[in-house]
Amino acid sequence: MRNLDEHTITQAVLTRNANTEDARLREIMTSLVQHLHAFARETRLTEEEWEKGIEFLTAVGHICTPTRQEFILLSDTLGLSTLVTAQNHKKPEGCTEATVFGPFHVQGAPQYDLGADVSEGLPGTPWFVRGQVRDIDGNPVPNAILEVWQADDAGFYDVQKPELGQGDYQGRAVLQADGEGRYHFKTITPECYPIPHDGPVGNMLKALDRHPWRPAHLHFMITSPDHERLVTHVFRENGEYLDSDAVFGVRSSLIADWVQHEPGIDPYGQPIDGPYFTLDFDFILNPRSR
Ligand code: BEZ
Ligand code: FE
Repeated sequence: MRNLDEHTITQAVLTRNANTEDARLREIMTSLVQHLHAFARETRLTEEEWEKGIEFLTAVGHICTPTRQEFILLSDTLGLSTLVTAQNHKKPEGCTEATVFGPFHVQGAPQYDLGADVSEGLPGTPWFVRGQVRDIDGNPVPNAILEVWQADDAGFYDVQKPELGQGDYQGRAVLQADGEGRYHFKTITPECYPIPHDGPVGNMLKALDRHPWRPAHLHFMITSPDHERLVTHVFRENGEYLDSDAVFGVRSSLIADWVQHEPGIDPYGQPIDGPYFTLDFDFILNPRSR
């Protein structure tokens, strides 16, 4: 193939890739090349703009570390994460909706007994979280595993704090629901936070006149052998940024009342000398497709 021009280059690349043995890879690469070329044609992309794009992607790669996942932020802020989540988790009415995973989940979070304080001493307003995991028919899902992770009351995750050593977790836990699917734990209320915006994705948001903020939320990942894994959040009703989440993750069904209480006796029967919050939230899992 020689003398390719703007009219013939796309087919030339598709022909070159046509022997790809893996049929799914071939399908994805064919579509990717077609859309990428169509984008360049439609926008009449200049060489300077193409160079800027390469520089941007290079910067996204350079800033990445195991705890700074700039490519995830890019996918999230472009709405790609929400699109992929939505089209892969169409569920029967009544199931708890999924939302974006985000970059702050870590493997190997500490396990706690039900009722534990998973904040590990974080300052903030005490929060008592409880609920039940059920299936679509209303039956409890016994012994479901719940992973939770959250920002603190200044909007930071433990993995964003250089002063914490590896394995010093805060606001991050693995819990096992009881035989009736019930779970409960204590923590502190998390605040809204800006996604990390001191890198190329932050520069992109600034150039697009967008803010980097996410509404306050608590992350859950719930697994059980017979059910589809659920990755979701619970958002705070009437909180800021619910309608302008930087990563497009809010769903109405995931917004709940974080109920404020006066000092007195906490849900575990202990005296509590300041105000506290409670959250009651049940999760409905979709059966695993077999
Ligand atoms: C999060 O909720 O942890 C998150 C999601 C997307 C981008 C940044 C943070
Ligand atoms: Fe988060």
